[in-house]
Amino acid sequence: MTTDIRVLEDEDDLIAAAKVFRSAMVGIPPVPNLAPGQIATLLEPGRTIGAFVGGQLVGTADAQTSGLTLPGGAIVAHAAVTHIGVLPSFTRQGIATDLVRHQLDDAAQRGEVVATLRASEATIYERYGYGVASSWQTVEVLTARAVLRPGVGAGGPVRLLDTDEAWDVLPRIVAGNRPSRPGTIDRPEVWWRGTRMRAELSPGPSYVAVHGEPGAETGFARYRPLNTEAWFISDRRSIAVEDFFAPTLEAYLGLLRFLLGLDLIDRVVFWMLPIDDPLPWLLVDRRAARVTGVHDETWLRVVDVRKALAARRYGAGDAVTIAVNDPILLDNSASFTVAGDGAEPTDRRPELHVGVGGLGAVLLGGATWRGLALAGLARVDDPAALAVADRLFAVRDAPFAGVFF
Ligand SMILES: CC(C)(COP(=O)(O)OP(=O)(O)OC[C@H]1O[C@@H](n2cnc3c(N)ncnc32)[C@H](O)[C@@H]1OP(=O)(O)O)[C@@H](O)C(=O)NCCC(=O)NCCS
Repeated sequence: MTTDIRVLEDEDDLIAAAKVFRSAMVGIPPVPNLAPGQIATLLEPGRTIGAFVGGQLVGTADAQTSGLTLPGGAIVAHAAVTHIGVLPSFTRQGIATDLVRHQLDDAAQRGEVVATLRASEATIYERYGYGVASSWQTVEVLTARAVLRPGVGAGGPVRLLDTDEAWDVLPRIVAGNRPSRPGTIDRPEVWWRGTRMRAELSPGPSYVAVHGEPGAETGFARYRPLNTEAWFISDRRSIAVEDFFAPTLEAYLGLLRFLLGLDLIDRVVFWMLPIDDPLPWLLVDRRAARVTGVHDETWLRVVDVRKALAARRYGAGDAVTIAVNDPILLDNSASFTVAGDGAEPTDRRPELHVGVGGLGAVLLGGATWRGLALAGLARVDDPAALAVADRLFAVRDAPFAGVFF
């Protein structure tokens, strides 16, 4: 039977797609009761697609229009891909493949340079040219042992916001203080609405602390208590910091001091930190902070290789010529000479050969050419080229987005 892919526009289809996604994911909460018209406020018009078999909606995929920061600071057009799901009774028939290809063609037509997603499993997306471009770590801090070194700065003022008020203030803080770190993404309006809805639907208290003077805030932390059943008598009271937006040194220090200084709290779990976060260095006893997990974050698909390579900045050093192979978006298959002053298409003989997924992994500097070569994901014609490429693609800050979508 043929699969028909089309853009979903009417409310019933959008709700049906949300249900398909939840059935596919098995373990996430069901679609909440939505007010008439509400679903359309949670999705970007024209970007939710459905796969129909015999008239039945059996698969879906969705995206949000965003920007992504490349090394050097350029922000390129970015599709934040999400909600990919196929009904369990229709899997392994090529439906996700049709959806993803359709979505990539659409992103290319929109002039987008990269697409990124968060993967539920690590074995799905490489075949479509996605590679792991950034990671995050979870860090738990035992507050009783977490004394900051005497040389650590004070940071600025931090205050709690009423949660209702917070949802108006947070988007302004993010928009006005965009981090320069590669991998940073914009948080579109639909993302804020969805995040707010999920936060309000989840039971239990949650808090928002903001850093900076009223009207000129520069960071925030959203946090909630964990395991509150025996809260009153517990000796292991913990909070999870779900969103730690601290792009400046002052905001980082102010918010850190605030969270570690909360009365009652024995353990602060920073859910998502960049892998080069300096937290342990700030502590007299660095073992008060423990990394409890490192996870792949950004799966990046280069949609326009020429634009992506031209827009990022490179370290100093010799030039290297790289042949890129893209079996899906065929225009991307070409060779590029990359040097300290930029990258451009070339007909020079390549020294390195890489699939578009491997290029996605190194684009933000979160993976190395050496690692790709060891894994068989890059082919090396000239062994000296590996070190040259790694110097060119090296970054100062580990790439990180810090958000799920
Ligand atoms: C992941 C999912 C969308 C794949 O849908 P699908 O329609 O079965 O995928 P396809 O039939 O197009 O499969 C394409 C290829 O991917 C492979 N594949 C698909 N899902 C896979 C999985 N979960 N693990 C490993 N391989 C997978 C297929 O075996 C097939 O391989 P092939 O090209 O070598 O033949 C579907 O399994 C699903 O909805 N899973 C649960 C929801 C989910 O995890 N969504 C992703 C959220 S980020």
